[in-house]
Amino acid sequence: MPMNGDARPLTVPDLIGMKAAGRRIVVLTCYDAAFARLLEAADVDVLLVGDSLNQVLAGQETTLSATLEQMIYHAASVHRGSRRSLVFVDLPFLTYQVSVPEAIRNAGRVLQESGAHGVKLEGGQPMADTVRALVERGIPVLGHLGLTPQSVHALGGYRVQGREVGSADRLLADARALEEAGACGVVLELLPSALARRISAALTIPTIGIGAGAGCDGQVLVLHDMLGLNEAFNPKFLHRYAELGEAVRSAVRAYAADVRGGRYPGPEHSFD
Ligand code: KIV
Repeated sequence: MPMNGDARPLTVPDLIGMKAAGRRIVVLTCYDAAFARLLEAADVDVLLVGDSLNQVLAGQETTLSATLEQMIYHAASVHRGSRRSLVFVDLPFLTYQVSVPEAIRNAGRVLQESGAHGVKLEGGQPMADTVRALVERGIPVLGHLGLTPQSVHALGGYRVQGREVGSADRLLADARALEEAGACGVVLELLPSALARRISAALTIPTIGIGAGAGCDGQVLVLHDMLGLNEAFNPKFLHRYAELGEAVRSAVRAYAADVRGGRYPGPEHSFD
């Protein structure tokens, strides 16, 4: 299994090996080649081309209107910017729920046209046959349980899931069904820490938490949120590792002042 700074690209089986070795998996969302290069240089294991790009980049309220073409375009950009990290791509709403053959065709297109290594899809037991069909055709699949953003209207908003005994047991059964169907990992979003820890202990495949506490085998955050580029979004689980929103504003103000004051470009930026 590659370690920090190793030149060998990470593989999908390595992910399961990382859980067995007790090595936590570092995942961030990534939507373009420029950030892919930076994230990889900082040793991120998995670049997730999340359908959150529909909110973060396109300014939509939900992920629901993301298209397969959008995802393929951004995944291809991320793939071009990375050499060592694994690239997983969200299958957008309605590209995998209608039928298994449609899911195979759409997931296959993502891998074929973008160069990504695998796909992520939302849902538990009802999606197990689809996961199995994809995995049997050589398409690695990450599951996604808990707050599944493509079901935001059915769930009644972006809120913590699995607080009642029944729903906690159902989530555990969902996670087991995904593992049994061949998923190589499961994202757990907005779950009580104790439940996420229980699910993680019950599985041999890794869990990747977001708002699910420290008991998961890895963590994922939306890159723009953790960099402070999405300043209006301040959920309890988020830790901001930078304040790039303020850095961008101050750099652009300095540029504007230099342009207006005739200080930029100077002779050192100009051609004879
Ligand atoms: O779309 C996304 O960015 C995701 C992560 C929040 C896990 O699914």
